[in-house]
Amino acid sequence: MASISQIMENVSEVLSPLTSELLMFALAALVYILASRSLTVPVKKKSGSEKDERKAARPRQPWKKEMEETAEVYHDILQLAKGGEASRALSAMKRLDSATKMALPSQVATKVLLALAKSPQCESLKKDFLELSVHFDLRSFEAAGTEASRWRNVACCRELYHLAGLASVHKSEKFLVLLVRGHSNDHKAMHSIVEDILAEGASNLSRPFLDSLVTQCFGAKNQDTAKIIQEHENSMGMDTNRQARIISSFGKEGNLDAAVSAFQKWKDSGAAPTVVVYNCLLDACIECKALPRALKIFEEMKEQSLADVVSYNTIMKGHLMSHDTGSAEQVFMQMHQAGLTASRVTYHGLLNAMVSKGDRTGAWRIVTEMKSQGIGASSITCSILLKSITGRSQGAELSTILSLLEESDIQMDEVLFGGFADACIRSGNLKILWKQYQQLLKTGQPVQVSGPTYGNMIKAFGQVQDVQSVQQLWKHMCEQHVKLTAVTLGCMVEALVSNNHVSEAWKIVNDAWSSEDQRELLNTVIYSTIVKGFTMSRQHDQVIAVFKEMKERGIACNTVTYNTMLNGLARCGMMHEVPELLKGMRDSDPPVQPDIITYSTIVKGYCIAGDVDRAFALLDEMKKLGNVKPDEVLYNSLLDGCAKQSRVEEALKLLEEMKQEGVVPSNYTLSILCKLLGRGRHLEQAFEIVKTFTEEYGFKANIQVYTCLMQACIHNRQCQRAVSLHDQVVKDGVCVPDAKTYTVLLRGCLQAGLVDKALAVTRCAYHLP
Ligand SMILES: *[C@@H]1O[C@H](CO)[C@@H](O)[C@H](O)[C@H]1NC(C)=O
Ligand SMILES: *[C@@H]1O[C@H](CO)[C@@H](O)[C@H](O)[C@H]1NC(C)=O
Repeated sequence: MASISQIMENVSEVLSPLTSELLMFALAALVYILASRSLTVPVKKKSGSEKDERKAARPRQPWKKEMEETAEVYHDILQLAKGGEASRALSAMKRLDSATKMALPSQVATKVLLALAKSPQCESLKKDFLELSVHFDLRSFEAAGTEASRWRNVACCRELYHLAGLASVHKSEKFLVLLVRGHSNDHKAMHSIVEDILAEGASNLSRPFLDSLVTQCFGAKNQDTAKIIQEHENSMGMDTNRQARIISSFGKEGNLDAAVSAFQKWKDSGAAPTVVVYNCLLDACIECKALPRALKIFEEMKEQSLADVVSYNTIMKGHLMSHDTGSAEQVFMQMHQAGLTASRVTYHGLLNAMVSKGDRTGAWRIVTEMKSQGIGASSITCSILLKSITGRSQGAELSTILSLLEESDIQMDEVLFGGFADACIRSGNLKILWKQYQQLLKTGQPVQVSGPTYGNMIKAFGQVQDVQSVQQLWKHMCEQHVKLTAVTLGCMVEALVSNNHVSEAWKIVNDAWSSEDQRELLNTVIYSTIVKGFTMSRQHDQVIAVFKEMKERGIACNTVTYNTMLNGLARCGMMHEVPELLKGMRDSDPPVQPDIITYSTIVKGYCIAGDVDRAFALLDEMKKLGNVKPDEVLYNSLLDGCAKQSRVEEALKLLEEMKQEGVVPSNYTLSILCKLLGRGRHLEQAFEIVKTFTEEYGFKANIQVYTCLMQACIHNRQCQRAVSLHDQVVKDGVCVPDAKTYTVLLRGCLQAGLVDKALAVTRCAYHLP
């Protein structure tokens, strides 16, 4: 293609402007052929007759199609235009115009424009054109420009530029770029049209447009023209808004250096200092956590009297981000002194800081000040204030905030009510919450309460055992078609289960299962809650049924679910189901790994059921597998099992093992041992173990341990010793005997027939002399 443009350049130099048009056309046709590759024409053939090439360039087919697509009344005009008879085409247009007053179709207008622009008589036809100019719109000019530009027909492009001016058509950037491109082969003409465009557009030309003109110039190797465009661009000065945006976006990206250099470039351009650009730089510094730098710039701004409310707010934000409320307040004061009026944003920044550091007095002071400046509270103000309510004692402020809402005429919206509900729940003011919720219902509009807020409310009312409110909330939520989430559903199930409404919870789960779009919300946690519920209410059959259902519905069971199930079986004395369940764990895909809770639960279950041997067997298996280490809870369960069956030998062996495994015994372990040894008539050993254990592990036994030891004394018919132990404990003041201790002692003394001792014990229990 480079060779062709060179040829064109040479040719246009040689030939006079008059005949060059003809040649241009021939060359354009040649380019067309080469581009379309429909014919292989040797480059030499450029001297071929014009007629032949016109035929090659304009195959008959599109021409025919064009006629078919045009209404018959315009055929004349179209044919004349295409034949290059501009004058006759205009006359035909005039005739049609007086007859029909119909606008010329765009494709016909385009052809007329091209005929006119190419016509040697163009100048003399302009008067006629002017009369008909309404028929030529930007679309037809752009289409004509596209053609003329493709042909690189300089004269035609130039005329189109003038004609558009005559027709008062607003020359679009696209149109102008096309015309300039059409001038590619004539440096001088290109220079001239670009000068015209720059002069006409002046400062209203966009940078992207000027950039594309520059591209056209470089494409035509016309550096001189490119230069005048770039000079024009520079004379327009920096685009302040654009530069501000650039600085901001660098700040958001965390690239402070780039932001600063963009700022410097703007400053170097000699642009007048603008607060907007400065503020963008300030914000960029704050975004990049460069407060000292921001402060320096801020000083510079103040010197030039450039700082405005936004600048002060930004600096305050910087201080608040580094938790320096004091400095923020100082900036606030300076702002006052500078005669600037704080905006709501300013106050909210300070308010938020006060609330974050828990200074509620300070927070209210700011609200008061804000109001005194004539700035009313908004729903954001109230949301921030609501965050300050964290504990029970701050409930009174709820009503203050409510009256603030009322006096500022703020409607509760979804976000605000959510914040309000959370504040009520945090401060335990469910009554106020319920009242406000009822008022919201009464407003009659669609109630604006979000799913998560419903979830929080259901949970809170469930925790205070207000099942009725829980049920009502659920009902409203379903009626209002609030989008249900897994969390909200989980809250509802938990609230019902923990209040012994397991069957109702189970019904809700099944309802969700039968609804296509809620089915996916059901998860392992929700089912585990149901299993737990049925376990607590000892509905064995239901536990098994839910578990079966889970398998059928393909709800993945994890270790927690299995543990919940196992706990259910253990509590309900259904240990015979355990092997089956363990098999299920192993057979799951992927297998569910038992954890320490799994083992403890099963061991405990076996011990409760009196099957201590099985419990020991499981411990052995566990040790063999070796991936879970037995813990204190598990050992305690086993020891307890031994204690119930007086298996002293095994228990002591177990204790030894516990020591070796490095498992630290607790008060509970000691209590079990005291029971075990007392029953097995090893009283001395019981005393011994309490002494050595507490010494060895460096802790003092609690009253439960001593009570068990007293019980052991009594069991061994040494009531006197129990009483002495009591006296010793009281004297040492390590722990205080409780009701259980005295019950044990009293019963022991009475059984031993020691009535005065019993009396003394009773006195002691009631703190009588
Ligand atoms: C600048 O160009 C826009 C369209 O790009 C036009 O609406 C506006 O009138 C022009 N202003 C001047 C002063 O030419
Ligand atoms: C046993 O209870 C006592 C008294 O409450 C306490 O100080 C001690 O730490 C407990 N021992 C262990 C191991 O928890």
